[in-house]
Amino acid sequence: MDDSILLKYDGRAPRYTSYPTAPHFGGGVGAEQYAAWLAALAPETTLSLYLHIPFCRSLCWFCGCQTTVANRYEPIAGYLRSLHREIDLVCGRLGGHRPVSHVHFGGGSPTLVANADFRHLLDHLREHFVFAEDAEIAIEIDPRAFDPAQAAVLAAAGVNRASIGVQDFAPRVQEAINRVQSLETTARALDDLRTYGIERISLDLLYGLPYQTPDGIEETAAMAAELGPDRISLFGYAHVPWMRPHQRLIEEDVLPDTTERLALYRAAAGMLTRLGYVEIGIDHFARPGDALALAAADGNLVRNFQGYSDDGAPALIGFGASALGTLPQGYVQNAPKVPEYRRALRDGELATVRGIAISNDDRLRREIIVRLMCDLTADLPRIAARFGADPACFEESLRALAPIEQDGLIHIEDGRITVVPEARPVVRTVCAAFDTYLASNKARHSLTI
Ligand SMILES: C[S@@+](CC[C@H](N)C(=O)[O-])C[C@H]1O[C@@H](n2cnc3c(N)ncnc32)[C@H](O)[C@@H]1O
Ligand code: SF4
Repeated sequence: MDDSILLKYDGRAPRYTSYPTAPHFGGGVGAEQYAAWLAALAPETTLSLYLHIPFCRSLCWFCGCQTTVANRYEPIAGYLRSLHREIDLVCGRLGGHRPVSHVHFGGGSPTLVANADFRHLLDHLREHFVFAEDAEIAIEIDPRAFDPAQAAVLAAAGVNRASIGVQDFAPRVQEAINRVQSLETTARALDDLRTYGIERISLDLLYGLPYQTPDGIEETAAMAAELGPDRISLFGYAHVPWMRPHQRLIEEDVLPDTTERLALYRAAAGMLTRLGYVEIGIDHFARPGDALALAAADGNLVRNFQGYSDDGAPALIGFGASALGTLPQGYVQNAPKVPEYRRALRDGELATVRGIAISNDDRLRREIIVRLMCDLTADLPRIAARFGADPACFEESLRALAPIEQDGLIHIEDGRITVVPEARPVVRTVCAAFDTYLASNKARHSLTI
């Protein structure tokens, strides 16, 4: 396929980690609504838990996460006190001991939490929830702030998956993003985790960074694969300085343009697939026997705020500043800034500040978008029937897709839309045709490719 056709459909579109997407959450849903939604959850509902730790030792200039630099431990210790309070409050609303299939510690850098405090946090969760025997307990790791003693503590606490931030191994790229991290540092983190039995490991890579070249990123991809992780993420760098002003420290004239981004993505993705990884969705790679690859092959992959997952829990409870939650009734988000979050909890209140209640039409469109993002195909009549909707409701979406179909990026047969493999980089644009909120909000998104 000619690159010019793909580039025609590049643009700014959401990453669809939810539908409706976060810019459409509003103040109409707050603590009171969240409390009512929690109380209404059926007792047998399996939960997924997310705990956000918004602290880092230093700031990477590319970072799009909600985080701050902590030079002392006290802000982290104080934040943890609020987190414990929030767990108590949420569990008070839930009542009983709810089943949990998945726990994710994200950030920021959760490994900045002191070993004793991390143990205490997991103990507290186990007091309130019933973890499934095979529950996945995952943590994001900055290998520059990690040591064998921490690996031992994580393993003893039941952590069984780790994702490690790498981005790129080339020194020139690392310097340009203020993230200098040697291959030895990364390799040591993997060794430490494996020594203590944490074998499920993924590495995060980025394309679209300053000074990246196709040859260089191929080398980074090969080095990452050589470390033997079962998963590798290859995220497109989201340059959103209007949301993350520190990204202005990266000069825009050294950022690759869209044509170059496409070449970088192709070079890294090509190397990873040649080395035996299966490409999943828009930005994941996994070894063929990995649970994510199996879920993708069986049509059981899901998309949530953490990206792709094989965790089918119908509700996600988020703890911490900026944490997002998904309930059958809708989405919620906590106060994004730590002081505001802590103030709510000090006052004995939930910290929910935004959210959205979802309608049947939202659920229907969400299912289409999730299937497209996960499987690159969606059977519109079947999905419409599942939600009791008239397939005629897709007329406008299909009209928007007509030029994309004419250009050969998608096929539509008996109402089933299939994105051709070469058009994977622009699947978000295909999803956007089903997004009825997009036109109603001026939110700016990152580049599709
Ligand atoms: C919370 S960080 C990972 C853990 C740890 N803080 C670290 O950096 O090693 C999660 C990942 O998000 C990705 N990320 C951060 N900022 C991004 C951006 N602006 N665009 C795309 N991905 C980004 C990076 O790949 C990063 O490793
Ligand atoms: S990429 Fe990770 S370590 Fe760097 S600032 Fe963001 S959250 Fe912190």
